[in-house]
Amino acid sequence: MYDFDTPAPRAGTGAIKWDIRESAFGNGDALPFWVADSDYMSPPEVVSAIKEAAEKCVFGYTAPTDSYKNAVREWIRTRHGCRVDPDWIVPSIGIVSEISNIIRCFTSPGDKVLIQTPVYDPFYNIVKSSGRTLVENRLVRDGLRYSMDFEDMERDLKAGVKLMLLCSPHNPVGRVWTEEEVRRVSQLCLKYGATLVSDEIHWDIVTPGVTHFSALHAGTPGNVIVLTAPSKTFNVAGLKCSNGLIPNGAMRRRLAAWKESRFIEGPNSLGLTACEAAYTHGARWCDEQNVYLAKNAEIVRKFISEKLPFIGVTPLEGTYLMWLDISATGLDSRELCQRLTRAGAILNDGWRYGDDGFVRLNIACPAAQLRAGLDAIAEVCGR
Ligand SMILES: Cc1ncc(COP(=O)(O)O)c(C=O)c1O
Repeated sequence: MYDFDTPAPRAGTGAIKWDIRESAFGNGDALPFWVADSDYMSPPEVVSAIKEAAEKCVFGYTAPTDSYKNAVREWIRTRHGCRVDPDWIVPSIGIVSEISNIIRCFTSPGDKVLIQTPVYDPFYNIVKSSGRTLVENRLVRDGLRYSMDFEDMERDLKAGVKLMLLCSPHNPVGRVWTEEEVRRVSQLCLKYGATLVSDEIHWDIVTPGVTHFSALHAGTPGNVIVLTAPSKTFNVAGLKCSNGLIPNGAMRRRLAAWKESRFIEGPNSLGLTACEAAYTHGARWCDEQNVYLAKNAEIVRKFISEKLPFIGVTPLEGTYLMWLDISATGLDSRELCQRLTRAGAILNDGWRYGDDGFVRLNIACPAAQLRAGLDAIAEVCGR
């Protein structure tokens, strides 16, 4: 069994989540539940591979090898059931910057780009800062669970959306979209000529029993780009390595030329090493992490139902980010987060994702840390 209970010593290492607590929030002692990375250690197999690479004592220019591409392909085949040609794999330094590249490459200023809100906050800024027109397709909430408004989506696509950005699994509402939902999105994009860019960075992180359905399966390889990475799954975001999957050769060539003309480079050598090791040896670690996260989610649900039953806990199907409805506290999310920080827990306010009645809680941490955070929430919200 792997160890997720021992906290990683992150304070003082430059970890954004830990080291800007004082400067950004005014409480350097508060426990951090904000930035989406994990507070236990990466898999020992990944750490060993990096140590082995370091012992070779050379860190020159490095390109993805055949064995790297094979590891990515095999991970996708065994974990997600998709057959990927190695040529489809387009390594990059991160998903956010790659989405920005893709939007700028495949659309023109003023073009409409559709996102489904509330959503991971950089989605708004990537679209706006590129001078494209942001189109919002609000997710609908039925009880605590979210679903897509396909009628609204079709109206938007019909009115000329050029590119749709799907977040799958969805940060922050925790949905793992079903096969039916992904196929419908894909068919609508194809029908109205929109490029579908599916950000699947969280695709390995699912509640046991839930299956992620990649847009790669959805049968429209002509217009789909899937973006994924080992960064969330194996806690290697700082190593800057992600992978685009682009079945359409003409689109791949266009993106490669676009990046080349702007001197945009690929991942660093240790990122490639970590990714290959994670995808080759990390299956059991990934499964055990999913079980651990499901137990953490249960700790949150139980605590809130016993002590703070007026807070709504959105069901967590995927990601390690819990979306809590705090509207019954009578406070907006920014005010509540300030009070939580003072009480010792830093969460993300829902306002930044597009819904001020919510806060986002990152549960990828040792259970003891999570329990301490819940106590801080109870201190602020308890009646
Ligand atoms: C949906 C989603 N996309 C992208 C990212 C960030 O990816 P990267 O660090 O590779 O830019 C995150 C991080 O939280 C995320 O949740």
